[in-house]
Amino acid sequence: MKLEGKRALVTGSDQGIGQAIAIRLAEEGADVAINFRKNREGADETRSRITALGRRCAAIQADVGKVEDAVRLVNESVAALGALDVLVNNAGIEKNAAFVDITEADYRAVMEVNMSGPFFATQAFARHRRDAGGGGSVINISSVHEELPFPHFTPYCMTKGALKMMMRNLSIELAPLGITINNVAPGAVQTPINTKLLSDPKLLNPLLENIPLRRLGQPADVAGVAAFLASADAAYITGATIVVDGGLLWNYSEQ
Ligand code: BGC
Repeated sequence: MKLEGKRALVTGSDQGIGQAIAIRLAEEGADVAINFRKNREGADETRSRITALGRRCAAIQADVGKVEDAVRLVNESVAALGALDVLVNNAGIEKNAAFVDITEADYRAVMEVNMSGPFFATQAFARHRRDAGGGGSVINISSVHEELPFPHFTPYCMTKGALKMMMRNLSIELAPLGITINNVAPGAVQTPINTKLLSDPKLLNPLLENIPLRRLGQPADVAGVAAFLASADAAYITGATIVVDGGLLWNYSEQ
C-alpha cells in the first residue's frame, strides 16, 4: 500500500470522481476526510466503503463555494484526523449556456465552487502544513478544459485555466514548505456531472468518435492517478498536469 499513515481530504467525495478518489486513497492505506454539499446519502456510501477497508473516515458537510466553508472544511478535517498530508480539490460544477445567455448567478456559482474553493482550501491547507513543519501534496482535479475551448461552457473553462495557473504559481511558492501541487485533467468521464450527455446517443456518439481510445473514462481511471500523485513515488513531481482523457485533448487526424 502506497499511502499507509497518510491523512487526506477529498472535496466533493459524495459521488463521481471524488468518491472514487476517496475510496482509492483508503485502499492504499490513507485515512480520509470526505465532503459533501447536499448529497448526504452519497457521502454515507463513500464513508461505509472507507470504514469497511479499516480506515478512519470523517464526513463533513461544506459548500466549498463559500470561503468560510472551504476553510472550515480543512480545519475540521485536521481536527478529525489529527493532521492532513494530502488535499484533493475535486468538487466542481458546470453550467451549459451560450455566452450571450449565461446569468450572473450561474457565472458566480461556477467561479466560486471551481476556483475560489480550491484557492482558499489550499491556503488553509498550506497554513496547516507550514505550522506542522512542512511537507504535503495538493492535487487539483482540473479538466482537459484547462487547455481546450468548450463553447457554451466559458465560465467552466475559465476556472479550469485558472486552476492551471494557480497550480503553476504554487508549485514554486510552496516548494520551500515541501508541498507539491499538481493537476489531474480528466476528459469525458462517466459521472453525474454529464448525465444529460451520457443518456443521449445523439450527443454521446460524436463525443466517442473524438476519443482515440473510443470509450469514456471511468472514475477509477482518474482515481489511480490521484493516488499516485499523493504517494512517495511522485515526490519529485510538482507543477505538472497529468491528462487522463483517452487521447481526447490532442486528437487530430486528416484522411
Ligand atoms: C466536462 C464534461 C465534458 C468533458 C469533455 C469535462 O471537463 O465536465 O462535461 O464532457 O470535459 O469535454
